Amino acid sequence: MIDRDLFRAVLGRFASGITVITARDAQGTPHGMTVSAFSSLSLDPPLVLVCVGNDATMAPVMTAAESFAVNVLSDVQEALSRRFAGKVDDRFAGVGYREGELGDPVLDDVLASLQCRVVARHPAGDHVIVVGRVEHGAARDAKPLLYYRGGYAQLDR
Ligand SMILES: Cc1cc2nc3c(=O)[nH]c(=O)nc-3n(C[C@H](O)[C@H](O)[C@H](O)COP(=O)(O)O)c2cc1C
Repeated sequence: MIDRDLFRAVLGRFASGITVITARDAQGTPHGMTVSAFSSLSLDPPLVLVCVGNDATMAPVMTAAESFAVNVLSDVQEALSRRFAGKVDDRFAGVGYREGELGDPVLDDVLASLQCRVVARHPAGDHVIVVGRVEHGAARDAKPLLYYRGGYAQLDR
């Protein structure tokens, strides 16, 4: 088995974008969390996946939700990334969003967004892989927020 520190060091060198995943619980309350473990999965049908830690407050929500939204953050949205990963009573307080076509929050001014119907869940180690079929999407021209070696980064072009 690979050494834990080396494993982290290698994973940290895989630069990624940052998303905020949103969904609603059975009472309709919105939930969201910062997720970099997002990936495209299939073009036909259009599928994406997100990996959610079993210990996350949002794990039970993602275990039950029929849909979720993926909000891809822009370079000026670092505060949103921190907010949706941190200890705040209501992560949505003061955050602008609209209700997407599937009912999940789509945050204002994101670089891009997807709205997905959950089609599969796969337990995997200390995370669950949630697979979504994409039904709606939006994209605009701006720069992405990046995550690299444990810190935020920007495209310099
Ligand atoms: C840049 C960044 C990327 C993250 N990516 C993931 C991820 O892919 N999956 C995950 O489960 N948690 C990820 N997290 C951590 C969760 O956002 C965080 O543990 C969670 O929101 C904590 O919520 P809780 O205290 O309500 O459980 C990430 C955090 C940051 C700052």
